[in-house]
Amino acid sequence: MKEINSKNLRQTFLRFFEERGHAVIKSASLIPENDPSVLFTTAGMHPLIPYLMGQTHPNGKRLTDVQKCIRTGDIDEVGDNSHCTFFEMLGNWSLGDYFKEQSIRWSYEFLTSPEYLGLDKNRLAVSVFAGDEDCARDEESARVWQECGIAKDRIFYLPKKNNWWIAGATGPCGADTEIFWDTGKEKCCDDCSPACDCGKYIEIWNNVFMQFNKQPDGTYLPLAQKNVDTGMGLERTVCVLNGFESVYETDVFKPAIEKIEELSGKKYGEDEKTTRAMRIVADHVRSAVFLIGDDMGIVPSNVDQGYVLRRLIRRAVRFGNQIGLNKGDLTKIAEVYVDIYKDVYRELVRNHAKIIEELNKEEEKFLHTLVGGEKEFNRVVDRLDGDVIDGATAFKLYDTYGFPLEMTVEFAKERGLKVDEKGFADCFAEHQKLSHDASGQRFKGGLADSSEATTNLHTATHLLQASLRKVLGDEVAQKGSNITPERLRFDFSFHRPMTPEEVKEVEKLVNEAIDRKIPVVCEELPIEEARNRGAIGLFGDKYGEVVKVYTIGDVSMEMCGGPHAANTGDLGKFVITKEQSSSSGVRRIKAELHKD
Ligand code: ALA
Repeated sequence: MKEINSKNLRQTFLRFFEERGHAVIKSASLIPENDPSVLFTTAGMHPLIPYLMGQTHPNGKRLTDVQKCIRTGDIDEVGDNSHCTFFEMLGNWSLGDYFKEQSIRWSYEFLTSPEYLGLDKNRLAVSVFAGDEDCARDEESARVWQECGIAKDRIFYLPKKNNWWIAGATGPCGADTEIFWDTGKEKCCDDCSPACDCGKYIEIWNNVFMQFNKQPDGTYLPLAQKNVDTGMGLERTVCVLNGFESVYETDVFKPAIEKIEELSGKKYGEDEKTTRAMRIVADHVRSAVFLIGDDMGIVPSNVDQGYVLRRLIRRAVRFGNQIGLNKGDLTKIAEVYVDIYKDVYRELVRNHAKIIEELNKEEEKFLHTLVGGEKEFNRVVDRLDGDVIDGATAFKLYDTYGFPLEMTVEFAKERGLKVDEKGFADCFAEHQKLSHDASGQRFKGGLADSSEATTNLHTATHLLQASLRKVLGDEVAQKGSNITPERLRFDFSFHRPMTPEEVKEVEKLVNEAIDRKIPVVCEELPIEEARNRGAIGLFGDKYGEVVKVYTIGDVSMEMCGGPHAANTGDLGKFVITKEQSSSSGVRRIKAELHKD
């Protein structure tokens, strides 16, 4: 086996697939551009969903990439050996091109060939889909693995719970075959397998055979094309192939941990609490660097992505405090990351000053509130009757003292107390209703900012979509949108160019709606009710999910995160400047609002 680090794994992976006809594409932004249903890009497949569904990708049918990802669902696990909130995912893609056999043969070659990773095939194990009423047992993958040289007793058939991949509740999905590194540990029992999580087998690569589109009613319809989506977690793979105990020993973390040791005067590994705190600081600062340093970058705030970022920074400050880090130290750790990643992610260099500035600002704000908040927390505990902090008190700590809920929970846990989190959520929702997004800052995918000009164009986009559907029919559905203060860009499904008359008619309908000075009304409804009322929109389909619905008189009703103008009369004159092809079956309109 060769020496493996993050740099050569990235390079070797991309080179391998490039040599096999794949176009190397750049990582997409961590902030999804056209999908308000998720906060972050959580897997390599996310930015490619339209192409898995059948749109033509400009770079062809074979792609390879290293995608930046953020997953904060397991934030409480960060500090153990393997959980990270930010990670890189290596992937190769077939968009209706090769399928199972070729995908497996290449994975095997990449892992075992001396020219690439040169791993011992006897240390690999794989799982394949066991089959159920939705999809047949995957004998083909098992056969190919065996033909490659994987012993029969290293091939495990596992059910949907283990060997099926879907992002969210609906959409493109399919059975997968997962590749594991056998750590050499003893079997935990006679049935020991990659499904039992005893630590003997660690997953390094997942090849998903995407051939279905899961519907909201739970049925699986075949996709127009069969795709391959593979994902290899960079940090984890470097970690296990080197036999490291944790990802923090890999080259992407080590210099940061050393910096933390230097700044805190403590030793990584000296005791469990110190190690955990150092890992949390290292992880959270890295995520903050990538979130602020993204070209669609965000800043700390109280909503959506900004709130997650705020939590990450504030947790880093608090755990940093625990090990004796001082004000300003987070930015010194951030500098280390900019240096580690500067050749791979140039945006971190471009946005360097912003990263440092925002980290400093947030740290300052938090230190200020932390002192007051901790005092108040102690007062709450002194007065507490029983062992549960009620929701209203937790909300007050959040609202008045800037204590994020999870911090209250953590403080409470340290003292053997609980927090009524449901009660907190109720207070939070109530408060949001009252303030009714007075900030006007709620995120909406595709919006460059929330200036008045952008907001007006966003409302015009709703009028545009409604008018397009009126003139061209229900075939029209939003495929993407991108709005700056100067213009809107709207991509929609339609099979042919529009005629000049149709363009004029759509423009006229939008301007009529503007002239009628219609108020824009926002409501929060369960998604089922929104659908029943006829709202259109791109949201996911989580049962019971509450969505915002913007209604513009009898013209438009759309699920959307906002923000919007209060009245169509504010918009000005709507002018379509271009109607052109975007990709196969997708048209693109550019339009502006002129002051009359
Ligand atoms: N989309 C697959 C994953 O994230 C490859 O595991």
